[in-house]
Amino acid sequence: MSAITIRPETPADAERIHTLTQAAFRDMPFSDGDEQDVVDQLRADGDLTLSLVAEDAERIVGHIAFSPVTISDGTQGWYGLGPVSVWPELHGQGIGSRLIRRGIADMRTLGAKGVVLLGSTEFYPRFGFAHDPQLTYPGAPTEYFQCLVLEGAMPRGQVAYAPAFG
Ligand SMILES: CC(C)(COP(=O)(O)OP(=O)(O)OC[C@H]1O[C@@H](n2cnc3c(N)ncnc32)[C@H](O)[C@@H]1OP(=O)(O)O)[C@@H](O)C(=O)NCCC(=O)NCCS
Repeated sequence: MSAITIRPETPADAERIHTLTQAAFRDMPFSDGDEQDVVDQLRADGDLTLSLVAEDAERIVGHIAFSPVTISDGTQGWYGLGPVSVWPELHGQGIGSRLIRRGIADMRTLGAKGVVLLGSTEFYPRFGFAHDPQLTYPGAPTEYFQCLVLEGAMPRGQVAYAPAFG
């Protein structure tokens, strides 16, 4: 594999991101099978706050999306991380971690106050994510809902994702 670079998506990337997301989630037991459609819909809705691709010399091999969330206490400036996808044959080579670190750094630069996600309790704590009982997300096992404060106080309330997540 050649060197990986990370950059914001361009309109020409949309189709490849769709294919990549579909392939990455295909065999995941927790997948709804519609993650690629969620990315398309976020883009169509203007809710794709940050969309980064990882590419090698030939093709896009990874992608990460961030979109706005709302919190019932009225706190502004929080975002949801995901979906994040790496081409299946390339899992475990550090591409996902680079996308997540760069994504968090870029969101901080954009002024984000915090990030939430629904995901593995083994993978995401290494980036600073942790479950906090002050932030709730109905319908998912509690511990998988994790957050990272970038600036300010920890909000207290129920989180809702952008409409594209259904
Ligand atoms: C999750 C994903 C983006 C990580 O990308 P990656 O390039 O494989 O990740 P990295 O190589 O940076 O990190 C690999 C590490 O993450 C761990 N990991 C990745 N996904 C994991 C998961 N769902 N559950 C537990 N651990 C996971 C690996 O076991 C490995 O751990 P180690 O460093 O202790 O050996 C990639 O595996 C992927 O596309 N998965 C399918 C889609 C998906 O599950 N997205 C996230 C939904 S929450």
